Parts: sequence; structure tokens; C-alpha cells
Amino acid sequence: MKTIIVKNQLEGGKVAFDLLKESLAAGAQTLGLATGSSPIALYQEMIESDVDFSELYSVNLDEYVGLAPDHEQSYHAFMQEHLFNAKPFKESFLPDGMAEDLEQAAKDYDDILSQHVIDFQILGIGSNGHIGFNEPGTSFDSQTHVVDLTDSTIESNSRFFASRDQVPTKAISMGIASIMAAKTIILFAYGDKKADAIFKMVKGPVTEEVPASVLQHHPDVTLILDEAAAAKL
Ligand code: GLP
Repeated sequence: MKTIIVKNQLEGGKVAFDLLKESLAAGAQTLGLATGSSPIALYQEMIESDVDFSELYSVNLDEYVGLAPDHEQSYHAFMQEHLFNAKPFKESFLPDGMAEDLEQAAKDYDDILSQHVIDFQILGIGSNGHIGFNEPGTSFDSQTHVVDLTDSTIESNSRFFASRDQVPTKAISMGIASIMAAKTIILFAYGDKKADAIFKMVKGPVTEEVPASVLQHHPDVTLILDEAAAAKL
């Protein structure tokens, strides 16, 4: 894993955008996108650039179960607001958290992933080491699946909702194997709340108890961290 320490999220966004441009120059066609606060500065760089994404595909990591695409906390709405309204792609895919048959929706998403191999995957990390919504204990062989969110994830994501009981308890997430199939991976982490997860991801054993630790086995991962997130390395 390569580590780049940046002053703040703004600088992290610029560094990531340079890496994205390199991938695009090398022929990248499908971007793997993430929600959360960490990638927003990159999306801002993309919006402010003159790069045209309208011939590219995007595939998002995850979506809450039970939030309609127009719900303001859905990841569909997040992506519209932070990227797609300004920079539409040829086609953008997110898991269908409103599907009556969620298992089928997960299979359908795997079909999409098999047709669109991810060239450039953006990730954040949960303070418990989750990537996407793959919580501790998720199999490294997992494909897209329905997830029961842990209390700690519900708690940390409750800051975006009016109250904790409005946070969905389930999500559909790309699996660990789906993420590992991406050719290039960029992971952002900022702030001291991520320091422990970053330490375990980089220096700890590769274990399903720390989902992000699997990235030690990926050939092309760049971590973009601020000093606080990197403090324990
Ligand atoms: C959510 C998302 C993750 C994201 C994480 C961290 O749980 N499902 O994909 O990495 O939040 O978010 P943030 O970047 O806001 O710290």
C-alpha cells in the first residue's frame, strides 16, 4: 500500500483527482464511487474540472435499505447532489434499496459489476474498519449482499439523520471480493476517529474482523490520509 499524507481534505481531493486523471489517460471507463464525507473534495475537483464524464460508467458501493432514491439521506440523493447533477455519467448504478426482493437486487448488482469492471475505486473507511458497508466478520469472498448494520455504524451515521431511530438498520453493499476486483483503489481517511482503523488496516493481521485489512493483498492501493488518521502508523 502506498500512503500519501495530506494537510486536509481539500488537498486530498486534489491528489486523488490527479490519480484519477492518470487512470483516465490510461483508458479507465468505470469509476467505483463512494459516499460519506471523505470523497466530497474529490467530487468537487471533478465538478470544477473540464473533464467530461458523459462517456464513462459509475458504480456505487452501497445503498441503505428502505430509503427511496429521492430521500435526502439516500446514497442516490447524495450522489446526485455531490456529483451527478453537475457531471452526469453515461450510466450510473447504485444498489436498489427499495427492491421487494433484496436478494435478487443484490444478484442483479453483481451482473452489473460483471459487465463493468471497476478501473478506479474510491473508498472511505468506517471507524470499525468497514469498507462499503462490509462490517467486521464479512467474508472476504463476499459479492453484493444485504447487510445488517452494526450499532457503531448506525451510531456514527445518525449524525446525518434527525434521530438515531431514523437510521436504516440494513443496507445493500458490494462485497469484499467485488471491491478487490477493482484495478486501482484509493482510500481516504481523515481525523483521529479513523486512526485506530488505519493502524489495523495497514499494520495489523489480514483478518475478516477488520474488513479493510484485505487491502494489504491488493496490488494497487493508495491511502490518502491526514496526520490525525495516520497518527498510529
Ligand atoms: C459510511 C459508508 C462508507 C464510508 C463511511 C465513512 O458508512 N457506507 O462507504 O466509508 O461511511 O464515512 P466518512 O467518509 O464520512 O467518514
